[in-house]
Amino acid sequence: MNKTRGLKGVVVASFVLALFDEGDAADLIHGRDIALRWCSQCHVVTSSQIIGSDSVPTFAQISESKRVDETQLSNFLADPQHSRMPNLALTRAEIADLTAYIKAQHR
Ligand code: HEC
Repeated sequence: MNKTRGLKGVVVASFVLALFDEGDAADLIHGRDIALRWCSQCHVVTSSQIIGSDSVPTFAQISESKRVDETQLSNFLADPQHSRMPNLALTRAEIADLTAYIKAQHR
């Protein structure tokens, strides 16, 4: 019900996870966190998000695309050349978390 509290829960959970899980395998909660912060002004990044930019693929669409696998996703995010996508200078860990999160958006 309370949106602010739900969001705080996610932030706290990812903080706690980060403490115990540092340097470990990709972290979906962290990926979602980054996506909401850095990607959601253009992309629709969750199934509950209503508004994104026109003609920008949603994360669900990207995830369902046969053309895009994990390797291509991470390469693209590391260096989005020849694209209307901005280069967001993400770290390796951020890219791994985002890739895992995007892949999990498959419906
Ligand atoms: C300023 C707007 C903007 C932001 C912010 C943005 N994107 Fe994009 N993104 C785009 C556009 C526009 C495209 C389509 C690129 C094209 O077709 O040339 C795109 C394409 C992509 C693609 C490629 C899809 C495909 O089919 O090849 C991926 C993956 C992607 N974005 C991930 C992300 C992630 C992850 C973030 C956050 C870290 C992000 N984007 C932030 C505008 C944005």
